[in-house]
Amino acid sequence: MLHQSRIGVAITGCGSAAPVATLDNEGLSQVVETSDEWIRTRTGIQQRRLATPNESLKTIAAEAAHHALEMAGVAPADVDLIILATSTPDDLFGTASQIQAELGAVKAAAFDLTAACSGFVFGLVTAAQFIQTGTYRTVVLIGGDVLSRWTDWSDRRTCVLFGDGAGAVVMQADPEQNALLGFELCSDGSQNECLTLAFQPQSLELIEDITIGQGTFQPIAMNGQEVYRFAIKRVPEVIEKSLFRASLSVEQIDWLLLHQANQRILDAVAQRLGIPSHKVISNMAKYGNTSAASIPIALDEVVREGKVKPGDVIAASGFGAGLTWGAAIFRWGKS
Ligand code: UT7
Repeated sequence: MLHQSRIGVAITGCGSAAPVATLDNEGLSQVVETSDEWIRTRTGIQQRRLATPNESLKTIAAEAAHHALEMAGVAPADVDLIILATSTPDDLFGTASQIQAELGAVKAAAFDLTAACSGFVFGLVTAAQFIQTGTYRTVVLIGGDVLSRWTDWSDRRTCVLFGDGAGAVVMQADPEQNALLGFELCSDGSQNECLTLAFQPQSLELIEDITIGQGTFQPIAMNGQEVYRFAIKRVPEVIEKSLFRASLSVEQIDWLLLHQANQRILDAVAQRLGIPSHKVISNMAKYGNTSAASIPIALDEVVREGKVKPGDVIAASGFGAGLTWGAAIFRWGKS
């Protein structure tokens, strides 16, 4: 039952896209001193998709959004809002408006949202607020990242992990149901240095007494063990809290859909929550860690395979740089 003053949300379409170029672990071992065996056993990753200089976040994200709109049966001209969750924009002023133009979503407002690998979950909750308040009826949420641009390809501790791609969902006002059943979003900036893609200023004196900082962003740096420990502690907590908000038990979850960072993290979280492995969605073997894109790409695959069916309850959780983490319990499909 919906609260009288609130409009419900339905998640009615999904789509995904990834660059064609595929680098497998053998190929990567020509770049850094690593092995297929190390990467598979420590992470579960077998290959990743990488964008060429001719591909952009805009093109990949727009393709994902296009597929999601087609599935939902929504015309671009009927979209009210586009949210692009990304940490790797084509333009620091924002890439969402370029996607809006590419799609022909002429009446849509569009903005970027940055919460690293938690971006899709933060975006899902943000999009739902606009719909539930009655402000907008149709929102396209995209999670997309081109991490290869900012990967340190000489650092074997990080470069084996990441890949490029985008996934999208269409969210629509629904008088019958509210598909966002419960959520929790968290941040802890005191641990920011565990995972960074940070701006490094260099002093530039403009005139006497006025010196500014100019520079560029430094490649991704990560304390993998710290982030691992953080993930396996915080993710089960935040899912349990979201389930409590949704008045659901762990047994009522049909699918566990975590940010695809490491198969060992997926296994550890599922074990802590007592969720059997057949309910755990995993496709990181094919894509690696695509940051904000990983949850919607995996969702799109299982929906199109027919594994996830309308009405299924999905517990999704993103976690990563910031540090940020969050969970959203939602029901897939039209009512
Ligand atoms: O999306 C944001 C969220 N990010 C994450 O969730 C990442 C969380 N962290 C992890 O997934 C894991 O910590 C990693 C996969 C990054 C690393 O796995 P680990 O089991 O924590 O390995 P480690 O860093 O403890 O390294 C173990 C050994 C080291 O050698 P020594 O010191 O034991 O001799 C590393 O030098 O493995 C070595 N190593 C490698 N060897 C071959 C590290 N990277 C590699 C590599 N190939 N690519």
